[in-house]
Amino acid sequence: MKSFSDLAQSVIYVNEKGIKIKLNDIDPQLELIGEGRSAYAFKVKSTNKVLKVYFPAFHSLAKEEAEIYEILSDTPFYPRLYEIGMNYIVIDYIEGDTLFNCIRKGVEITEKNIEEIDQALEVAKARGLNPSDIHLRNIFLSSGGRIKLIDVARFRQEKQCTQWNDLKKAYIRFYKTRHIPKKIPALILNIIAYFYKKRLFPFF
Ligand SMILES: Nc1ncnc2c1ncn2[C@@H]1O[C@H](COP(=O)(O)OP(=O)(O)O)[C@@H](O)[C@H]1O
Ligand SMILES: [Mg+2]
Repeated sequence: MKSFSDLAQSVIYVNEKGIKIKLNDIDPQLELIGEGRSAYAFKVKSTNKVLKVYFPAFHSLAKEEAEIYEILSDTPFYPRLYEIGMNYIVIDYIEGDTLFNCIRKGVEITEKNIEEIDQALEVAKARGLNPSDIHLRNIFLSSGGRIKLIDVARFRQEKQCTQWNDLKKAYIRFYKTRHIPKKIPALILNIIAYFYKKRLFPFF
């Protein structure tokens, strides 16, 4: 098998029209599994590892995120870190669904799951971190029914992040009420997220 460094080098991002990131040919050992704001995530085929390759403008996040994963690596709530390079990190592959996909597919999110997310965030706080960027695409419900958080790059920022408290409020207010559907199409979820970001919800 090629080294992670060689695999990362096969990932070449092309900046289209200044904003949209396009991907050129990648090594066949890599399977694109997720697209974020600062990186794409690839499963390294025939392993249980993920290679996260940052876009050129976000290379500095590789070291930052790796250092934070190291602080959290002995807890069950975060993937383990295996390697770090100039523009990439290698972490555990999480088998399961993000909460975004759970809602899209109608997989139930239980109160126990919510408590476990709180526990995961408390562990990070107890280690001097400031959990940030906690949204539906960064929280996994693993196939074993456990919670795993990813994308910890902003856990050392100073600004207070209200996203998790807002999500919890939404869970209690809407998700738990019987007449609200538990399965919502991705388009509607993205529209809700857009209005949230623009602060257009009067109740948050
Ligand atoms: N370890 C992982 N296991 C499974 N899927 C992952 C993993 N890491 C990332 N992903 C997928 O890739 C997406 C983007 O990764 P993320 O680390 O959140 O990038 P960004 O920092 O750009 O938001 C995630 O929302 C998720 O769907
Ligand atoms: Mg993310």
